[in-house]
Amino acid sequence: MHRFEFKGRELYCEDVPVSKIAREAGTPFYLYSVRTFLDHYLKLKDAFKSVKPLICFSMKANSNLTILKSLVEHGSGLDIVSGGELFRAKKVGVDSQKIVFASVGKTEKEIEDAIRSKILMFNVESIPELETINTVACRLHAVQKVAIRLNPDVSPDTHDYITTGTKQNKFGIDTGTANKLFMESYRYPFIRFAGVHIHIGSQITDSKPFVKAIKRVLQFIDSVRFCGNPVEYLNIGGGLAIIYSKEKPQTAREFARVVLPLFKDYDLKKGMKLVLEPGRFISGNSGILVTKILYKKVNPTKTFMIVDAAMNDLIRPSFYGAYHEITPVVRPSGKVRTAEVDIVGPICESGDFLAKNRKMPAANIGDLLAVMSCGAYGYVMSSNYNSRPRVPEVVVKGRKFFVAKKRESYEDLVRNEKIVKEVI
Ligand SMILES: Cc1ncc(COP(=O)(O)O)c(C=O)c1O
Repeated sequence: MHRFEFKGRELYCEDVPVSKIAREAGTPFYLYSVRTFLDHYLKLKDAFKSVKPLICFSMKANSNLTILKSLVEHGSGLDIVSGGELFRAKKVGVDSQKIVFASVGKTEKEIEDAIRSKILMFNVESIPELETINTVACRLHAVQKVAIRLNPDVSPDTHDYITTGTKQNKFGIDTGTANKLFMESYRYPFIRFAGVHIHIGSQITDSKPFVKAIKRVLQFIDSVRFCGNPVEYLNIGGGLAIIYSKEKPQTAREFARVVLPLFKDYDLKKGMKLVLEPGRFISGNSGILVTKILYKKVNPTKTFMIVDAAMNDLIRPSFYGAYHEITPVVRPSGKVRTAEVDIVGPICESGDFLAKNRKMPAANIGDLLAVMSCGAYGYVMSSNYNSRPRVPEVVVKGRKFFVAKKRESYEDLVRNEKIVKEVI
């Protein structure tokens, strides 16, 4: 469910025609429905309300400050993976006790900043990292909570690049080593082993891999508890899928219905707090990328629609072979011809495409297209490749729209750069 709907022939974001925004903001641009972000967050919160979980929006999916602020104002915590994300999290005033910090490569500086900021906990991915946290916490006279990220060795049946919980992946710690860490927690006097964390991958449509991973993690929790180590937090990560095309992902309610009974022997209200880290589920369908057709090119074997957005703006199609529905912002009237086209950007790469062999209604140069479901891993993965300024992010609430992040200028492209005369 999202709030990008056609009213007559016009695509609207909530109550604003997308073409109206395009006239004012220019193209290309990302467009977010604030209400859709909140709806998805609230759906998850409601589905799990019986255990009052801590929901930490995974801000790697979308780190727009306005979006973060609106989620935080409704009670969301944040899942961060870098010093830059910590900086953004603090900018939006999230309660630092609602921040969890994952990543296999946290630097000493990032660890220090996070401890000073009094984050809730680190999700620890290796023994050397644990040692660094212990050293830094000692220096800061702090005792820092951590969750050990387990690698449950469960394959979630999703794209290889977003599979994170198998033995082949760089993430997490195997259960044997993790068990030893809990047993030898006395070696880390400045660390409190407070929790266990898993995250098995992203865009997972089926509940089975979640169930398998959670069962494994509960077995682990039982074994460390048996040896006198209480586990205060169980973080089951993110990974819930959305609809890009014909997927039939579980709803928040279906997910809760399958997952919650697994905890029947645990007191999730008082004994162990459940943490969720959804990214895509909250943000994926909450944003679109709006682009304009620059040219049509008809080759003997192929027709190309060349648009003003490119792989630097949305890398998912070239990086993951991801499918995004693409629709005209204003649907043509009358009897419509369709043709199979590649929708490509201006970048000098054959991998620069938004869609391949896509049946599209006939369109004219200057027409607007909406690339749907770009709210997750869209803008955050954009770059300046080919010296293309990053596009603006526009937010809509009801009848109003605002530029939340403006288009970069050419000056922005060279802001931190100088010509080093000494080498010329
Ligand atoms: C540790 C962790 N938590 C949560 C997420 C969010 O995943 P998703 O966007 O699939 O919910 C990710 C994504 O990579 C992650 O690495």
